[in-house]
Amino acid sequence: MKIAILPGDGIGTEIMAEAVKVLQVLDLDFTLETALVGGAAYEAHGHPLPDSTLNLAKAADAVLFGAVGDWKYDKLDRPLRPEQAILGLRKHLGLFANFRPAICYEQLTHASSLKPELVAGLDILLIRELTGDIYFGQPRGRRVAVDGHFPGAEEAFDTMRYSKPEIERIAHVAFQAARRRSGGQGGKVTSVDKANVLETFQFWRDVVTEVHAQYPDVALDHMYVDNAAMQLVKAPKAFDVVVTGNMFGDILSDEAAMLTGSIGMLPSASLDKANKGLYEPSHGSAPDIAGKGVANPLATILSAAMMLRYTLNQVEAADRIESAVSTVLSAGLRTGDIWSEGTQRVGTREMGDAVVVALSGKTITTRTSDITKS
Ligand code: IPM
Ligand code: MG
Repeated sequence: MKIAILPGDGIGTEIMAEAVKVLQVLDLDFTLETALVGGAAYEAHGHPLPDSTLNLAKAADAVLFGAVGDWKYDKLDRPLRPEQAILGLRKHLGLFANFRPAICYEQLTHASSLKPELVAGLDILLIRELTGDIYFGQPRGRRVAVDGHFPGAEEAFDTMRYSKPEIERIAHVAFQAARRRSGGQGGKVTSVDKANVLETFQFWRDVVTEVHAQYPDVALDHMYVDNAAMQLVKAPKAFDVVVTGNMFGDILSDEAAMLTGSIGMLPSASLDKANKGLYEPSHGSAPDIAGKGVANPLATILSAAMMLRYTLNQVEAADRIESAVSTVLSAGLRTGDIWSEGTQRVGTREMGDAVVVALSGKTITTRTSDITKS
């Protein structure tokens, strides 16, 4: 098994170092091969997704991705910006199904900005279509910018589009996920759209409804995206599986992530039709805290666990990582994003080290070990 490791920019390199450390102590038979992506690749090769990186990703069994982007690239022509690397990988690898679970860890109930009773036990799954919609409409990247602007332009537009097969396949993924999560007891899918205004999303609603006929055991409801944004903060536990398009999914997944206390905790998987996948934390490159050693590596470590579970069929190893993360949280260790009174603040590396120690079954002790627990 070969895993492509693409750390990227900003905190990407720091958090990836911890995930790699965790993968290495598992003693499984795989090789890790690292390549540049995003701004880092632009600096070295003049392109955010060089052929060498794309070819490595294509040849690998799975891809573990950090994050890309930095404000300093905002003035580049769009095709050269770091974000194009992740969009290109999604498109070239056919990664149309993006799983963004929002799970509230019991130990972090108080880190959420919502009242604890609203989020305690939260476990919802947002499924975002990832290779269509306005992200990949026309025209894109056709014009040449000067200093980040288009001189003389009077308007700009992006077209929103979905084809029937694109909607059908993501609807199947959502209904099957709901079935799996409920252990065959049905489950529920909420399809989020804007059918009251947009033709694309009336079509989306019609096609999802049509596919639903094949899943009579799964409940389906439809919700407009503005209402969904409201319901997510009003009664998040009323959701089970949410399926939506690329753009709405981008926005709602950040909102859903924050319900759990921190976007720094949430992994994600982007899968193709054969379950080959790219795994990445739900958060971005956070240039404001990059290089300071304070970023939370747990979302990347949990992404590695998802990779082992879904693409590499190493379910036991995935379970071990997830329970090690839980052990570390129970021991009271927190990076700044999830810190609260009475817990111990640690840096990126200490957090990674603690997961490694927990994996070995040893007691977690830290330098100021007043909260040591086994
Ligand atoms: C995400 C990110 C990306 C997106 C950016 C970096 C292109 O926000 O994965 O959610 O918009 O899809
Ligand atoms: Mg996003």
